[in-house]
This record gives sequence, structure tokens and C-alpha cells, in this order.
Amino acid sequence: MSKEQLEKVARALVAKGKGILAADESMGTIKRRFDSIHIESSEANRRAYRDMLFTTPGIEQAISGVILFDETLRTKANDGTAFPELLAKKGIMPGIKVDKGPVDIPSFPGEVVTEGLDGLRGRLKEYSELGAKFAKWRAVITIGDGIPTYTCLKANGHALARYAALCQEAGIVPIVEPEVLLDGNHSIERCQDVSEETLRITFAELAEQRVYLEGMVLKPSMVVSGKDNARQAGVEEVAERTLRCLRRAVPGAVPGIAFLSGGQSAVSATEHLNAMNKIGPHPWEVSFSYARALQDPALKAWKGEAANVGAAQKIFYHRAKMNSAARSGSYTSQLEAAS
Ligand code: 13P
Repeated sequence: MSKEQLEKVARALVAKGKGILAADESMGTIKRRFDSIHIESSEANRRAYRDMLFTTPGIEQAISGVILFDETLRTKANDGTAFPELLAKKGIMPGIKVDKGPVDIPSFPGEVVTEGLDGLRGRLKEYSELGAKFAKWRAVITIGDGIPTYTCLKANGHALARYAALCQEAGIVPIVEPEVLLDGNHSIERCQDVSEETLRITFAELAEQRVYLEGMVLKPSMVVSGKDNARQAGVEEVAERTLRCLRRAVPGAVPGIAFLSGGQSAVSATEHLNAMNKIGPHPWEVSFSYARALQDPALKAWKGEAANVGAAQKIFYHRAKMNSAARSGSYTSQLEAAS
């Protein structure tokens, strides 16, 4: 695939009014989500849940792409259509999570690096044949006493850049996700410093691996107060600090920034995105790639029962539309309440 085609896909992922649904929960993560509604993580339940989300009427108005897990990319919907094909028919691009998750870094207590580079070239070729247009790799950065270290940021940035280069070689747009966790009692100022350092190192590594910036999407965390910090910053402060950090560290050549929600409530994630887009214009599109903030209210309404599919889909559609409105800074509490 040419650079122009990579750029076309990257721009379509962050098209105006649209964002990405992350539905790529690993086996461990989906089990935790299903535990919360007291249902078993069986193959049938996982399929039924993803079917409920992906067949929601009108979702293509707000969703440009869906990130899938390996199993889901190979699963058929209730009507027998393979999930990637079902999405593509609606004009939604299928994507794939390709990392193998974080492991401890030896001699660096409390820090992890993401694995999954071995054999990645071959896996990307197969994913492309199965219809994946883009991919995701998540790095996890923890803030704590004396961490993150430079070694941790460098190791994760290097892996992200190696992954991104391999994706582009395979004609797949890489979503580069360095997540700074919101867990901890750190201040928002510290989160801002760590986020900026993380992004600077990540982009230095991307440059070193000759990653084509126009053909990628960045998926960062927002700059927020640590979950256990006594001072929880308000919506405006989160928006201003996040934008300041991004302006300093993210080249304007990148088409778009699609935030993760990271454990924020569904409404907070929408409010923060909206506040950032109110401040624009920005050098890049400012969009979303949420998992929990898009799915949680629908998951709770679904409860694993076929009879609840319609109600859960209405809730999912509403969340997607609220975030679509936040893409242009036109989200309001009236819109939220109108559901
Ligand atoms: P959350 O929006 O739930 O943080 O998930 C996004 C994601 O894809 C994590 O890798």
C-alpha cells in the first residue's frame, strides 16, 4: 500500500464527527467486564455481546472504525457474516489489536513493557488478508515513586515504533497508544510532565524507525489528576493541560489524536473531548477511541440477555452520538439529557 493510501485510511479514522470504538478486550479483560454483569465469558456470550454493539442501527454516523481482538476478527455475527465484513458493509473499518500485553521489566520494579514483536510481520499479513485496515499496540506507563524511568519510556517507545513501522510495511495504519495510567495519588502537574516526556520519547523513536507520521493515529491518555489525588482537576483544566502537552510533543503531520478513556466515566470522557474541541482549531483532529466510556452503559443495560439487546443498542447509539457531538465542541448537557 502506498503512503497516500495509508494517509487516506488514517484521515478516515479521524473524520469529522467520527471516532473509533475500541472493542478489542483481551480474554482477561472481557472476563472482568462480564464478571461485572455476572455472566460467563463464553465464546457464545462474547459473540452475542459484540453482535449487539456492531449491529446497532445508525452507529456508522459516529463510528469510523472498530478495534477487534484476534478471536472477534475470526468470528461470525448472528446472521452468519464475518464481523469484519459486517462492519465494512456499514462503512466502518475493522482494526486489530496486535500487541501481546505488558510484562515486567527486569530490575525496574513496578514498570512494564509491551511484548508482541516476534512474528508480527507474519501476523500483520494474515490480519490484512482478513480485512484489517488498521492496528493497535498499547504501551502502559505507571506514575509512582521514582517512576516512570527513562528506561521504561525508551523501551516502550522503541517497541511502539518497531510495531508502527511493521504495520506500515504491511499496508496497515498503526494506532500508537502510549497510555499513562490515571491510577495513583499524583497531581495533574505530574501527569502532564510524564505525558509530555512519554510523547517526546515516543515520537523520537517513531522518527528513528522512519514511521510515516501522516499514516498513523496517536492514541494517548488525557492529562488528568491521579485517581487518588485530593485535588481533582475540572473539565477546563484537563482540556487545557492536555492540549498544551500535545502541542509541545505531537508533530502537526499526524492526522489525528484519538484518546483512550482510561477509566474516566462515560460522561467525563465526552465532556473532556468536547472542551478540547471547543478550544480548536488544532493541527490534528481531536477524536476518541474509547472502550469503557463507549461500552459500559450499554454493557450494564444488556446484562447478557437477548431481550435487552434493543435497549442496550439505544444506549450505545446515544453514547456514540454524544461523542460525535464532542468532536465539534457541540456537546451539551441538554443533548445528554435528551436521551
Ligand atoms: P479505555 O477507553 O477503556 O481506556 O480503552 C481504550 C483502549 O483501547 C485501551 O487499550
